[in-house]
Amino acid sequence: MNTPVEGFSKLTKTQKIDWIAVNCTKDPEATKQLLKQYWNSDPRVQQLHDEFIENTVSNYYLPFAIAPNFKINDKLYAVPMAIEESSVVAAASKAAKFWLERGGFKTEIIGTEKVGQVHFIYKGDKEKLSNFFDSVKPELIKSAAAITRSMEKRGGGINHIELRDLTDKIDGYHQLHCTFETLDAMGANFINSCLEQLAKTLKEQATAFGGFTEKEKNIEVVMSILSNYVPDCLVRAEVNCPVPELGNTDMPSEDFAEKFVRAVNIAKVEPYRAVTHNKGIMNGIDAVVLATGNDFRAVEAGVHAYAAKDGHYSSLTHAKIEDGIFKFWIEVPLALGTVGGLTRLHPMVKLALEILQNPSAKELMQIVAVAGLAQNFAAVRSLVTTGIQKGHMKMHLLNILNQLGATEAEKQRLVTYFKDQTVTNTSVKEALERIKSK
Ligand code: MEV
Repeated sequence: MNTPVEGFSKLTKTQKIDWIAVNCTKDPEATKQLLKQYWNSDPRVQQLHDEFIENTVSNYYLPFAIAPNFKINDKLYAVPMAIEESSVVAAASKAAKFWLERGGFKTEIIGTEKVGQVHFIYKGDKEKLSNFFDSVKPELIKSAAAITRSMEKRGGGINHIELRDLTDKIDGYHQLHCTFETLDAMGANFINSCLEQLAKTLKEQATAFGGFTEKEKNIEVVMSILSNYVPDCLVRAEVNCPVPELGNTDMPSEDFAEKFVRAVNIAKVEPYRAVTHNKGIMNGIDAVVLATGNDFRAVEAGVHAYAAKDGHYSSLTHAKIEDGIFKFWIEVPLALGTVGGLTRLHPMVKLALEILQNPSAKELMQIVAVAGLAQNFAAVRSLVTTGIQKGHMKMHLLNILNQLGATEAEKQRLVTYFKDQTVTNTSVKEALERIKSK
C-alpha cells in the first residue's frame, strides 16, 4: 500500500494522479477516471483551481445554493450558501421568510478591530524594556510605512501597539500586542507582513539601544502572527416581534416563546448543548463564509473562543421576552474580507459577492451573522416543536434514495409518498423495494 515518496510536488499532474491511483487505491483506472471527471471542462478555469493550492489533482465539489428573502436593515438579500448538509438551506430560507413577514433582521457593527502579536523573550530589567518600548514605538510604526501606506490612504492601518508582560506565565515572555483596521480586507497577509517588520525593527533597535546591557540587547523573537481571536471585530444581529405574532406552530405563541427562550438558556449554561446549539449557528455562518471565499477555519476558531470568553463555553445567541416582545439576537466576532484572497480569483466567489450586491466587509459581517441567527432560529424552533428529525429526514430523503440507487421515476414517486409518511432509512428502503417488486 502507501509508501514514502520523494519529490511528489515536482511530479506533473498526470504523474501525481498515477502515483496516488496506483499506490493508494484498489482500482487505479477508476480512480484516474474519477479524478479527471471532476476537472473543469475549461482548461483555464481548471488551471486557476490547480494553482489555488499545491499538489492539486482534481476538484472537490460542494453544492452552491441560494437562501432568498433575507431582509436585513430593510434591504433584501438572496444569500449564497456552500454546504453539503441537507436541510440547512431550507431552514435558512424558511427562517428568512418568517422574519421577512415580521420586520426582518436588524444588525449593527460593534467593532472592526483585528489583532496580531509579536511574541518575544526578554529576561532583563523590566523598566528598561518599558523605556525602550516607549522610545522605539514611533520607529516601529515608521518602519512598517511601506506596508501600511496604501491601507492608511483608505483609512486603515496599525491602530495601536502595546507592550505586554506575560512573565508570570513563561520566563521572559513579552508581546507586542498590536491592533489593526483592515477595512474590506480580512487582512491576514497585511497584518502578518506588518508584524514581521515590527519584529525585525524591534530586534534591530534593541541591539542599538544604549540603555540595555549586552545580554538585554539580545531580544529573542519567537514568532510574529495575527490572532484569529477577534473579540472586537464584532457584529450583532437581532429579530424581535410581539409574542402573539410568533404563532404559526402547533402550540400557542406564548408557550412557544417560553420554550424557545428556555432552550436558548439551556445552551447558555450547559456546554454539551451549547456546542450543538452553536454548531447549528455555524451551519449558517460557515456556508456563507465559504460561498464568499472567506477563511472558515479562522472564523470557526475565533467564534468558539468567543463563545468561551466568560470562562465556560456558552451559547452565541440570546433570547428573552420583555414587555410582551420576543427578542432573539446573536453577537459574534467575524473577521471577513470582500477584497483580496479568493474574492477576485474564484469565479463562484465573485458571483456570490455579486449576488450579495458586492458588500463591504462590514455588510458581509452583518449578512453572515444573520445567516447564523436564522439557522439557529430554525433549529431551535424545530427542536422545541416537532423535533429536528421530521424536517431533516424529509430533506435527507433524496440522499437516501440516491444511496439506494433509485431511478428518477422511483424518486419522484417516493418523494410524493413520503410527504405524509415518516422518513427513516428502513422505511425508505422498504418503500423502494415495494415499488421495485411491482
Ligand atoms: C444539525 O446540523 C444542527 C442542529 O443539531 C443544531 C441544534 O441542535 O441546535 C440541529
